Amino acid sequence: MNIIGGPASQLLAGRVAKELNCNLLVGEFKRFPDGELYTRIMGDFAGDMVTIIQSTVTDSDFVSLLQLIDACTYASVVNVVIPYMGYARQDKIFKQGEPISARAMAKAIKADNVYTINIHAESILDYFEAKVKNLDATPVIGKYIKNMELKNPLVIAPDDGAIDLARKASEDLGLDYDFLDKTRLSGDTVILKPKNIEVKGRDVIIIDDIISTGGTMAETISLLRSQGAHEVFIACVHPVLSSNAVLRLFKAGVKGIIATDTIDKGVSVVSVAPVIAEALRNNC
Ligand code: R5P
Repeated sequence: MNIIGGPASQLLAGRVAKELNCNLLVGEFKRFPDGELYTRIMGDFAGDMVTIIQSTVTDSDFVSLLQLIDACTYASVVNVVIPYMGYARQDKIFKQGEPISARAMAKAIKADNVYTINIHAESILDYFEAKVKNLDATPVIGKYIKNMELKNPLVIAPDDGAIDLARKASEDLGLDYDFLDKTRLSGDTVILKPKNIEVKGRDVIIIDDIISTGGTMAETISLLRSQGAHEVFIACVHPVLSSNAVLRLFKAGVKGIIATDTIDKGVSVVSVAPVIAEALRNNC
């Protein structure tokens, strides 16, 4: 099998190729003078199986993914791994006249097999025409947390949508878990209605699928600190961390940020490469 990493996922692609001990293709990614993207995969892979790994954090990342898929037209099998799929949060029509952006993205991605990781809503998987599997990064996050020296740790989901993540992480660790109710007022403002959680003196790890503006986490960190939590850490699969999110989180008093490399950031201390490698191995 050949692996090609798109511009958004080069490090992760390298790690997966190492895990699987398979050939890593090199891509050329640049822009034409008019701003259009140029993509080229070096080497001869016609008739071979190719796995493209590319997160779609930005619109350009999405175009690069489509270009990579087209460049693999003469491969025997094309697998597409989308570690972080952008536009997944527009998974329904909120206001009349809106598209289901996640559906538009999914429909455009043509491949034999598609893999996502902790996609925002599993219902999006139905929009892909390819065979699709949503992988779970919770066990590797759990493993990382397990190795931290924490005081009576408690795993908390900032809302009921993330309770599954909290449950899966805490089950592995044998920890308590709970969740907070969240009401979103606007794009970056949320209010939290706390449940009856005793956090006093305990180290708390708040876990969510995505940290974007940091609004959800910042509120939760402040809330838990005001309730007497000892240290508050946050963990997520996808560290989007847009704009001033990191500053907001530290201002709110976070002790540390734990994230995976579905998006390559300074806080990406946990790699999902073993998760992807295992899925590809099982499908070969
Ligand atoms: C929402 O449903 C997600 O699970 C996250 O809670 C959300 O995307 C986080 O966004 P932000 O960091 O902007 O509050």
